[in-house]
Amino acid sequence: MIQVKRRLDYQPPAFSIPKISLTFELADQVTTVRSTLSVEKFDDSPLILDGTDLELAAIMVDGTPWQDYSVDEQHLTLRQLPRRCEIAVHTRLYPEKNTALEGLYQSGGSYCTQCEAEGFRRITYFPDRPDVLASYTVRIEADKTRYPNLLSNGNCVERGELEEGRHYVVWHDPFNKPCYLFALVAGQFDVLRGNYTTSSGREVQLEFYVDEGNLHKAEFALQSLQRAMRWDEDVYGLEYDLDVYMVVAVDFFNMGAMENKGLNVFNAKYVLADADSATDTDYFNIESIIAHEYFHNWTGNRVTCRDWFQLSLKEGLTVFRDQQFSADMSSPALCRVQQAKVIREQQFAEDASPMAHPIRPDEVIEMNNFYTVTVYDKGAEVIRMLFKMLGKDGFRKGMDKYFSRHDGQAVTCDDFVQAMADANHRDLTLFKRWYSQSGTPQVSIEQRYDPERKKLYLDISQHTPATMDQASKRPLLIPIEISALDEEGHPVLLDSRKSLVLELEQKQQSYVLSCEQPFALNVLRDFSAPIKLRFSQTAQQRLHIALYSDDGFSRVDAMQGLYQEAMIRCANESSGQWDSNRAQSLIDAQRVLLNSDETDLALLAEMLSLPSFETLMQLEERIDVDALMRARDGLEPLLACANEPLWLRRFESIPQTDYQYEPLQVAARKLKNHCLLQMMNANPQQYAEACKAQYQQANNMTDTLGALKAAQNTSETLFDELMQQFEQRWHHAPTVMDKWFALHAGAKRKDILSRIDLLQDHAVFSWKNPNRVRALVGTFGFYNPHGLYAEDGSGVRWLTEQLIQIDKINPQVSARLVTPLLSLTKLDDKRQLQWRHELMRLADQPTLSVDLSEKVHKALN
Ligand code: PHE
Ligand code: ZN
Repeated sequence: MIQVKRRLDYQPPAFSIPKISLTFELADQVTTVRSTLSVEKFDDSPLILDGTDLELAAIMVDGTPWQDYSVDEQHLTLRQLPRRCEIAVHTRLYPEKNTALEGLYQSGGSYCTQCEAEGFRRITYFPDRPDVLASYTVRIEADKTRYPNLLSNGNCVERGELEEGRHYVVWHDPFNKPCYLFALVAGQFDVLRGNYTTSSGREVQLEFYVDEGNLHKAEFALQSLQRAMRWDEDVYGLEYDLDVYMVVAVDFFNMGAMENKGLNVFNAKYVLADADSATDTDYFNIESIIAHEYFHNWTGNRVTCRDWFQLSLKEGLTVFRDQQFSADMSSPALCRVQQAKVIREQQFAEDASPMAHPIRPDEVIEMNNFYTVTVYDKGAEVIRMLFKMLGKDGFRKGMDKYFSRHDGQAVTCDDFVQAMADANHRDLTLFKRWYSQSGTPQVSIEQRYDPERKKLYLDISQHTPATMDQASKRPLLIPIEISALDEEGHPVLLDSRKSLVLELEQKQQSYVLSCEQPFALNVLRDFSAPIKLRFSQTAQQRLHIALYSDDGFSRVDAMQGLYQEAMIRCANESSGQWDSNRAQSLIDAQRVLLNSDETDLALLAEMLSLPSFETLMQLEERIDVDALMRARDGLEPLLACANEPLWLRRFESIPQTDYQYEPLQVAARKLKNHCLLQMMNANPQQYAEACKAQYQQANNMTDTLGALKAAQNTSETLFDELMQQFEQRWHHAPTVMDKWFALHAGAKRKDILSRIDLLQDHAVFSWKNPNRVRALVGTFGFYNPHGLYAEDGSGVRWLTEQLIQIDKINPQVSARLVTPLLSLTKLDDKRQLQWRHELMRLADQPTLSVDLSEKVHKALN
């Protein structure tokens, strides 16, 4: 039976559980959990505890067996309890059979847990909701040789030997926490140790638990953690609060990582790195996710969510904080460009899909389905808008107020905004609409300049199209940052300021700004709001911004706008066929950029890259997929050929150096690899040797992958040859092989489906490992448009068949990978029918998970 939960139905608990003590007896096949809850009831209603797939062994109240209870699939209900009592519940679990990776499960030879959002109920009977905060004492017992490391939250308070080669460890967490932050790990690990002294002089032990032999690969993560700890003190005055901070890297994990109090569990791919096996992007992700989980200690753990509808309270805010951190550690402009890409490519797609929801959803069937790019990344954009409007100091004041009011509490998004409002004496009522309204606002700007009065007139209007979850929309408070350039590329002052933030509040608003004649307006600087902007500009103005704006995001955005407009027009007007005329302004602009003395090579690479097909898909309500694909596929070689000598010259100007992960090198590699791709696009025969040479001589994974990507869709023979070499070198390292699976799955080839079918029998592939499945099936679904949109429907059919299999093993993974199947309304009628047919096939499965079924049914409605 499918149950919808509603935000407005929230009721505070009628009891509190100040203490819980747990004993885990880990043994082959079966684990016994003994839980003791100290309960204080506020009324005489029965106590209802959550529990799923548990084997109940015993119930005692105040030391004597209790009869007055009932159990069903999801609850244990206890009646006639005294107002204050101690409830002991014993349950049995089978972690080896747990392939959903939620609750207690095995990863490799170790045990670990994942409780967010509602996994604790798969471990023991408990009120599995984030507003029940308890103090935890945890005792773990296991075989000593196989599980020398027994970990849980907080501080280790006792350990000792048991009979039959077993041992035990007891942990106590001095901070009250919701059960989703509970964690347990048991296994045999190598430990990388470090330390950190907080600004108030507290000594913290840092411990990274990794598979044996991987110690050196955790160094970068350890340093990242130390940088994050320092940064949070410097920027927000926030210190770590326990004596030990542990990070465990596991191979089987549904997400990136989890912020369990004092004991983060990480997907190993976001901890382990060395130059040979990790790309620049991998390093970036490790640093940012390590920071993200660390920042949760304050935004998430010390102050947590009242209910799961408030998820963005911790996630939007923590993503914003990790983005700030990453910008400080690397290139702020490049970070911003990537963040805008995620919004435009993925979040706009979600808004246009049947899963559209506000950053604070109102209705949820399966909570795991709401760990979305809307809640996370749009959530972070909403926080960023507050930051933009309140300023750095105002925002900090708000954060201080938030912590001083709510430390130790479970609160709501409204509480957060209220703290910001109160600290800044500002009414944020209108701004709050961002929390309740879903969809992508469209903003149009019309400009007119009066040279006599030296006035710039702007008419700005906003409109948010209906989404599948909400028919009617209201105006939002949208900050639009704007500046202007003169003909020489110098800034023109607007109302005597270098840049302004216009706060659009109504459906339509007019602005009059005084300024000298501007040549080009630079609007939506810094991607100041997560919106679609309509603002018409000439190719010349766009290039001008790309060359002269002082805002990195705007420079890239100006070029993206130029490419986009040309491709959409080409798709709509000539069904994707280019004539040389049509591409000329793009060729000229690229030539100017390639010849420029631009020093930021990463931005240069971004300015020279076409928007992804996935981003283009989001530009219009209905898309002629074939024409758009033709347009994009045709433009690439055209641009590559037109400036071939320049790509080559740039490529040759960047020598290989000793590998270091640092911004200048990262930028140079990015440009170099983009140039190599263009060379191969222009003339694969001629440059095959250069591509191969780069592969063979590479001293880092970024360049290795750069060569493979350059060959991927330009030379099948070279690609196959290099891929074979890659496999020989890396077949022993599954996470590295994920890159190989992904390259195969993303290739544009006629025989793509039979090739990826074959790969499923590869010795390294496993249906049970989410990283493997995402690399192969996920890459195909999300990033192989030629495969997915194949005219005969074979691509969607293939994807559907994989989903049916995956869903039986791991519903969280299948529910994520179904995403490309949900966006059918943009497609032509023929494809809509194919898509629908496949969705119906899914809906007809006798054992579809709740996760997958929520999405499939929304799409079919
Ligand atoms: N809370 C985790 C994070 O963002 C994500 C997560 C959610 C991990 C659910 C596992 C399960 O940091
Ligand atoms: Zn998070």
